[in-house]
Amino acid sequence: MNPVLEIDALSVTFCGKQAVHAVDRVSFSLGGGEILALVGETGCGKSVIAHAVMGLLPGEAQVSGRIVFKGRDLLALSERERSAMRGKDCAIVFQDPSRALNPVHRIGRQIAEPVLIHGAGSREEAHRRAAALLERMGLSPPGNYLPLYPCQSSGGMNQRFLIAASTILDPSLVIADEPTKGLDPGRVREVEDELVRLTGGGRTALLLITHDLAVARRIADRIAVMYAGEIVELAENDAFFDRPSHPYSRGLLQSLPEHGFVPIPGSSPSPVSPPPGCRFQARCRDGKAVCGGQHPDLVSAADGRMVRCWQCR
Ligand SMILES: Nc1ncnc2c1ncn2[C@@H]1O[C@H](COP(=O)(O)OP(=O)(O)OP(=O)(O)O)[C@@H](O)[C@H]1O
Ligand SMILES: [Mg+2]
Repeated sequence: MNPVLEIDALSVTFCGKQAVHAVDRVSFSLGGGEILALVGETGCGKSVIAHAVMGLLPGEAQVSGRIVFKGRDLLALSERERSAMRGKDCAIVFQDPSRALNPVHRIGRQIAEPVLIHGAGSREEAHRRAAALLERMGLSPPGNYLPLYPCQSSGGMNQRFLIAASTILDPSLVIADEPTKGLDPGRVREVEDELVRLTGGGRTALLLITHDLAVARRIADRIAVMYAGEIVELAENDAFFDRPSHPYSRGLLQSLPEHGFVPIPGSSPSPVSPPPGCRFQARCRDGKAVCGGQHPDLVSAADGRMVRCWQCR
């Protein structure tokens, strides 16, 4: 089956006073019904990838490579064509529902809005679809929820409403950027269930951007680890969590509470002038002379995962 999304050698550079190389030759694909978690520390380029796919980068961003969505190269489309697609066939769920939802409009109106914006139905039809969607999400009777204002429900509930608003038109691709950030554990599980339900029919693909590796472990099919603008490991869920390969992946897992909160010393290199060799070399316990000199490619390991490391070969 053809992938829903195929990203090939995507690079994004912000051309301000200094060029910021935010994303560097990133490639991956996503199939229908698949959940791919994109993880890595702050500033590594996760949201920039999300914005590149959605066509939401500012004018100073220089983008190269290919982003193929259902067979169409998005970077070759006009802004009009892209905005017609945005929110309809590909949707993004932002992190903070208190900012993404409009405080002065009722939830029902906000969930129904994409139907009206994209001319997909009348006001009555939009309202009916919003009610049916809440029902499917287990929020029943929908009449209890549709008239609410965002300030009348919890952060977790608002995040679910936001997911509803983003997916009411049944998109083929959903990007969720930190959808569980700041939620307490019970609410995190509810949002997770929502995301899994979304992909259940096998049509919708989900790119899940998260700092929470426990969420990634529970719901993702594959994990892509980013470091300083690059993917350094891409592996199936079990293989990744049972046997992380890249020294940075191992460090990430060791920094989890269940593994003793061992932080990775140091910080990531500047995206203005990344070092010529392995970008993780300065922080790596396994580093050897070759690592600093030559840049490693992302290559397939024997078990099918992809790893960017001279020492993992
Ligand atoms: N508009 C912009 N102009 C210049 N640099 C930018 C811009 N947007 C992002 N960047 C830079 O691009 C890099 C990647 O940022 P990005 O927001 O993708 O990180 P992230 O992985 O999403 O981090 P976080 O986990 O904190 O959300 C960072 O160095 C950031 O400072
Ligand atoms: Mg981000």
